[in-house]
Formats: sequence, structure tokens, C-alpha cells
Amino acid sequence: MEVIIESDDAACGVTVADVFDRAVRSGARVLGLATGSSPLSVYRELIRRHREEGLSFAAAQAFLLDEYVGLPKGHPQSYAHVIRTEFTDHVDVDPARVQGPDGWADDVFAAADRYDAMLRDEGPVDVQLLGIGVNGHIGFNEPGSSLGSRTRVTTLTEQTRRDNARFFDGIDEVPRHVITQGLGTISSARHLVLIATGGHKAEAVAAAVEGPLTASCPASVLQLHPHVTVVVDEAAAARLTNADFYRYARENRPR
Ligand code: F6R
Repeated sequence: MEVIIESDDAACGVTVADVFDRAVRSGARVLGLATGSSPLSVYRELIRRHREEGLSFAAAQAFLLDEYVGLPKGHPQSYAHVIRTEFTDHVDVDPARVQGPDGWADDVFAAADRYDAMLRDEGPVDVQLLGIGVNGHIGFNEPGSSLGSRTRVTTLTEQTRRDNARFFDGIDEVPRHVITQGLGTISSARHLVLIATGGHKAEAVAAAVEGPLTASCPASVLQLHPHVTVVVDEAAAARLTNADFYRYARENRPR
């Protein structure tokens, strides 16, 4: 696992965009996208590179991590909608090749299974972008999720609903259920890139990177993966015991 500490959110966005840029220009075709606030600086930078530096997503396809269950179709906070407005509408990826779990299906349980099967068939994801919840969730794998879990319908904690209420007109509007890629599904990607910014993420980042491997901190599953990059700003790095070593290792990368 490589841990990169940047000064602020914008610098984190550039560093993560570098990872995607390098991957796409060297032939990565299957991208894993996240929603929420954390990836916005990454998408801004990728859009800029698309417009100004010829970075093309024309050959790519993309898979979302998760989707709310029970929102009206076209709801501005559905992740299918958010990813279009924040990223994919502004680059040259084929909209038909941007897929997410079907949170509107009559049978959402079957839809979750279908999505997992699609990821197996069309994957693996080359580079998967991840945010982290203050409780250590990735995707919407809340504490207690099996480290080997697959895509499924699951229940959000009240904490996550409170955290996400800022996107809605109050907590009552936030759905209770989601379809999320499981921790095992996410771990099938070739390269996992987690971005976290702000002091409110510091504890979760430290637990994920340096804490015990445990379902109580779902993001600790990253410790099992062979290729992980964690990009954090100074505030989110504040609880990392080995922060000085991560800085030293970055300055002294083997060549
Ligand atoms: C969203 C997702 C979640 C978020 C996490 C952090 O697709 O999978 O794991 O990444 O809740 O959210 P923000 O970035 O809004 O703090």
C-alpha cells in the first residue's frame, strides 16, 4: 500500500487524476467510479485534462460502486444522475457504457446479483476510485460487512444517513437501503485508489491503513489487496502513526 499525503483537497485530486490519466493512456479500459464529495476534485481535474490535454475516455467503460434504493427515477441525488453531472457528461465516455446497480428494479436483490455477474464478466476493473465514510465504510459496506461480500442490497447506518443528509432536504429524504458492490467485489479490481480529505476522516483513515484487519472497519480490507494507493490531505492524515515514513518513502521511491 502506498500512502500519499498532499497539502489539500485540490492537490489530492491532481495526484489521483495522475493515476487515472496514466492508466487510461496506457490502455486501461474499465474504470471504477465513486460518488459523494471526495472524488469531486479528481473529476474536475480529469475533465480539465480531457478539455486541455487530450485525455480521452472514448475507449473506456465505467462502473459505479453503489446506488440508493427507492429514490424516484432521475432524482438528482441518485448516483446514476450524480456521476453524469459531476463527470461523465463532461468527457467523451459513451454514456451507455457507464453502468451502476439498478436501484429501481422491481427485484433489487436480483438486480444486485446481476450487477455482480456483470462485473465478473466485463471486469476486472482496472482502476477503482474509492472514498471512505467516517465509520470506515467503502462503497456502502457498513461496519460488520463480510470482508468477502459481493454486490448486495444492504442497510445504511443512521450515521451514514445523517452524513448524506447534506445532499437531500433533510435526513428523512435519505433512503435506508442501497445496492453496493461488496468488499470482495471491490477487491477484485486491479488497483484501488482511495481519496480522503478533511479532519473528520482522520480516524477512519488511520483505522483503515494502520488498524487491525477487521469487518468493524470495512476499509481495512485494503490491507489485503496487492495494489492500493491511499491519497489523503494533511487533515485526513493527522492520525497516521507512520506519516513521516510515508513521506520519506515517497521521496525515496525505488526507481
Ligand atoms: C459513494 C460511496 C461512499 C462514499 C463515502 C464518502 O459512492 O461509495 O463510500 O465514498 O461515503 O463520502 P464523501 O466523499 O461524500 O465524504
